[in-house]
Amino acid sequence: MGLVLGRGLTHLTLMLHRPPAPTPLDKPLGTIPLLWAMRANPLSTWTRAHFEEPILHGTSIIGEVCVVSEPAAIRHVLVDNVANYRKDDLQQRLLGPGLAGGLLLAEDDMWRRQRRLLAPLFTPRAVAGYKPAMAQSAQWLVARWGRQRAGRTIDIAADFSRVTLDVLERTIFPQGLGRDPTQFIHAVTAYFETAGRVDPLDLLRLPEWLPRLGRKRAAPALAFFAEAVEAMITKQRAALALAPNTSERPDLLSALLSAADPETGAGLSEEEIRANILTFIGAGHETTANALTWTLYLLGTHPLWRARAEAEADALLAQSDIPSPEEAPVIRAVLEEAMRLYPPAATLTRDAIGPDRIGSFHIRPGTRMVISPWLVQRHKTLWTDADLFDPARFLPGARDKIDRFAYLPFGAGPRICIGMGFAMQEAVILLAHVLKHVRFEPVPGHVPVPVQRVTLRPQGGMPMVLQRR
Ligand code: HEM
Repeated sequence: MGLVLGRGLTHLTLMLHRPPAPTPLDKPLGTIPLLWAMRANPLSTWTRAHFEEPILHGTSIIGEVCVVSEPAAIRHVLVDNVANYRKDDLQQRLLGPGLAGGLLLAEDDMWRRQRRLLAPLFTPRAVAGYKPAMAQSAQWLVARWGRQRAGRTIDIAADFSRVTLDVLERTIFPQGLGRDPTQFIHAVTAYFETAGRVDPLDLLRLPEWLPRLGRKRAAPALAFFAEAVEAMITKQRAALALAPNTSERPDLLSALLSAADPETGAGLSEEEIRANILTFIGAGHETTANALTWTLYLLGTHPLWRARAEAEADALLAQSDIPSPEEAPVIRAVLEEAMRLYPPAATLTRDAIGPDRIGSFHIRPGTRMVISPWLVQRHKTLWTDADLFDPARFLPGARDKIDRFAYLPFGAGPRICIGMGFAMQEAVILLAHVLKHVRFEPVPGHVPVPVQRVTLRPQGGMPMVLQRR
């Protein structure tokens, strides 16, 4: 009886704190409302059927679209028949102005060559070597919050952006970014807010010469990036000319500037070098910052889990300032559950280049394939109480039972996130330090709204009330 009551109470506590998410629509939006909703917040366009049906295939004004949420079908697109699917035209149009020619958007030989070149920076050994630097960043953040008075409201999203950029500067960009980090953060946010909004003209695949409002507004951020990246390259070229980098520690700029094709000896083009610097700054800090932001919010609204995570952080840091992700099952589970509910990369998209068959559907060339971690990870057929926060799903024992293709915060297959191990290690180290020293409570009456602007972020930041432990 007690057990039943206990379980019932736990369930009730969970129900009381249903994490915020747009309510799925009863039926699809009409053309014009859909185009505008896509621009405002793509998360608000999904219908109930998207969270219940394994595969939805249809044709509308934006062309033929196949939304795939069934794990075996996802595996087919991302792994088994990966050669038939390319990074889609919409993604290329949205992110191309800054990132075309970089690892995230490259295809075929260009992608293979860059991935081979940059892989040494992200081997388990290289990533383990970044632990002390990540712990330094964590201490910097805790000291910054330690100087604030208890009870003060802080935008934790902004501070996590700042610290994750700091991690990049201490690890893969040891030469620094050559600019005030806050300038970089503002430029990245402005870029995602403007260029990252889905333009109806792009959805309709209309010609590039028609002016896009977002892209016009993104121009100052792009100009800032161009100048900053140029300065970084010039400085590093001069340093390499004086003395080649013989350090054991790989760094991104040296790898990009010294790359030589094993057969031809040719280096990367200027466009590839520039695009990769921006790709790693863009993909490498905002994503992790968002994961950390939602994790602290969810812990703030689920005090029982917060207490468990704090106890683990206390025990870990009593042993060493540099905790290992492998020794932090609760913190890992909390983080993974936060990324299930709020995947920083909420949608993966591809275009089919040849015909294919997915389940009973015939896929024609040009079909836009949508694999959305937001949908898959809240899908009613794949998860119990899909919309509730329950990190127990990711504790050892339970974690192994999750289908590999039902949980995709880092994607899957050859295009899986190159920074996955880096990000998990960084997030666990940062969280352990934060949980040990400070506690964040939700601001009474404030409900964060998740919006998708390239990454999934809380609209207007994440104010939370700082308390000391
Ligand atoms: C919680 C943090 C992160 C999340 C959730 C995340 C998510 C993802 C996802 C889903 C993809 C695959 C996209 C697709 O298949 O279309 C991806 C690719 C990528 N990520 Fe991450 N990422 C994170 C952190 C990082 C970090 C720390 C770095 C680098 C320091 C990074 C660099 C990249 C790059 C360069 C790619 C393109 C890889 C390729 O196409 O070969 N990411 N990321």
